[in-house]
Amino acid sequence: MAEVKASFREVTKVFGRGAAAVQALEPVTLDIRSNAFVCLLGPSGCGKSTLLNILAGFESATSGEVLMDGEPVRGPDPRRGVVFQQGALFTWMSVLDNVAFGPLALGKGRQEAHAIAQRFLEMVGLSAFARRYPYELSGGMQQRVGIARALANDPEILLMDEPFAALDAQTRDLLQEQIKRIWLETRKTVLWITHSIDEALYLATDIVVMTARPGRIKARFSPRFSQADAHEVVRDPEFARMKAEIFDLLRDEALAAQQQQESIS
Ligand SMILES: Nc1ncnc2c1ncn2[C@@H]1O[C@H](COP(=O)(O)OP(=O)(O)O)[C@@H](O)[C@H]1O
Ligand SMILES: [Mg+2]
Repeated sequence: MAEVKASFREVTKVFGRGAAAVQALEPVTLDIRSNAFVCLLGPSGCGKSTLLNILAGFESATSGEVLMDGEPVRGPDPRRGVVFQQGALFTWMSVLDNVAFGPLALGKGRQEAHAIAQRFLEMVGLSAFARRYPYELSGGMQQRVGIARALANDPEILLMDEPFAALDAQTRDLLQEQIKRIWLETRKTVLWITHSIDEALYLATDIVVMTARPGRIKARFSPRFSQADAHEVVRDPEFARMKAEIFDLLRDEALAAQQQQESIS
């Protein structure tokens, strides 16, 4: 059996108290295998970010346990690298210094930290932009710097909350291919949140579909599209079959989420 990198054991989350309490998560139990690429899909507000933030150590669970390598998560840790949707770069630092920041903080010397940063900038295809500042880069390039920065800490697991949500469709398609190549090369364990079924099917080894709030796991899929060539993957009949099945599941949950919102307002 594959080793488990991180796991949620009957994790629940309630925000606020009394009449204002919001149950964000119903008990969620999920194992993230080492070297897996897990995609979370679910309607807006179903608790995806909450789940990721609990594993990141930014939020605590109301009940249940979150483990990494068998140890309870107690707070943020460089072994868990987080990439946000946008805007998490240090605007006053060069691209190189942004990526070198983590290694420096972990105690590496300046030269070594810069060498590490260069290596990961190369991996995301941005070594020519090392001396530039974030504002000089497009949104897609900034996200690649964010990914290089997370990788430079050599995390055990990468946590990515809709990292491509703010990008246009073409940039997104290209970055997906780049991410898949990097994953095939590094086999980092990844937890990735997305709204795109195509993205999940193309990238993931495991897809977890969540219900409308309070979120729980509704279904799981194990896509086996191991090639990096997206052109081939989207033409695989199995891709279309899984896509249709996930589409229907998500549609039901999105409708439930919409009805929930209408009954509140
Ligand atoms: N800090 C918070 N305080 C109160 N409610 C919150 C907080 N964070 C999230 N929520 C609520 O919890 C639910 C799940 O949120 P979230 O995890 O962000 O959903 P998703 O990422 O799936 O869109 C939503 O109803 C949201 O409004
Ligand atoms: Mg979210």
